[in-house]
Amino acid sequence: MNGLAISPFIAALPKVELHIHIEGTLQPALRWKLAQRNNVALKFRDQTYGTYEELLESYRVTYNHRPELGGRKDVPTFLEAYFAGCEVLLREDDFYDLAMAYLERCRAMNVRYVEPFFDIQAHTRRGVAAEHVLNGYLRAQHDGAAEYGVRSNWIFCFLRDEPVEDGEAAYRTAFPWARHRDGGGKGLFHAVGLASNAFERPPLLFQAAFARARADGLHTTTHCDFGQKDTHEHVRQAIFDVGIERIDHGLDVLERAELVAGLNERRIGLTLCPHAYHRRTATDVLFPKLRALLDRGVTFCINSDDPVYMHDVWIDGNMQKTYHYGGLSKAEMVQLARNAVDMCWADEGVKREIYAELDAVDVS
Ligand code: ADE
Ligand code: ZN
Repeated sequence: MNGLAISPFIAALPKVELHIHIEGTLQPALRWKLAQRNNVALKFRDQTYGTYEELLESYRVTYNHRPELGGRKDVPTFLEAYFAGCEVLLREDDFYDLAMAYLERCRAMNVRYVEPFFDIQAHTRRGVAAEHVLNGYLRAQHDGAAEYGVRSNWIFCFLRDEPVEDGEAAYRTAFPWARHRDGGGKGLFHAVGLASNAFERPPLLFQAAFARARADGLHTTTHCDFGQKDTHEHVRQAIFDVGIERIDHGLDVLERAELVAGLNERRIGLTLCPHAYHRRTATDVLFPKLRALLDRGVTFCINSDDPVYMHDVWIDGNMQKTYHYGGLSKAEMVQLARNAVDMCWADEGVKREIYAELDAVDVS
């Protein structure tokens, strides 16, 4: 992680994670195990990973993040690598094992509460039954809280580069697993989001889908990717047209005063993932932006995105980078952790517990 070790202060800080794709936490060892269990070949295009070492080696790259910009043809794009990883996930137990491994890791990192994204269409379009995905994650939601003390409320993501109708159909299928407004439903997810390739797929395309979820009593968030060609317009639509409650990334708002004002007036926070940007952005360009957001009163919190496909940097590594390269004080780091509690959609009791822990952190 650019030579940085996690300090005891960052390691011990009670954390809330609001921007992590569960499928982006599939570690190579579990991927290998599931490939054996399900008799799935591990491959990318014409390359097969015949040994565990070859598989491990394949992660030691920085993927092309914006396929539309070209780049090396021998390296997968980020989303190609991410969806290739999904191919070993077939049965309920696979989804359960994936989620339990992540929640166990949360306990080790002092993550108290998490709102993981899941991409059901990434699985159903491969022929996996929706119930396998949803029941696997639901069982892990219960067992992760009981065994590891890590509570979670999940976020259904529409794949924005698939037809809108497909996303709406996936939502209708998944809805029995939502936490319904009237207290019914199985309680797995309490929000919807927008993920996958944002290229020419603005949030406005999904306006009716978001409206439906809102009418069902769910929360809303959307990715507005950093450095994406129409990033300002995507943020504008998200704030003013779609009326979402949170933005995932959205770091480009700094270049538009009206977007900063819109976020602040509507109390919309950003879920940032500094290491994801640091892979492609110089230190002295990136980290002053975090300071600038603080100076302009924009609420944000620190998260990890897809740690396995981003050099194994998790929320603690992202916080360490923010602390170290951003030059933030301990009190400011605690404030960022508190922002995540403010921004999350946990029950008040869960929030109160985490606030109390944060109040007790020594910032001297
Ligand atoms: N889906 C999974 N990871 C993603 C990311 N980093 N950006 C957009 N969509 C994603
Ligand atoms: Zn993301």
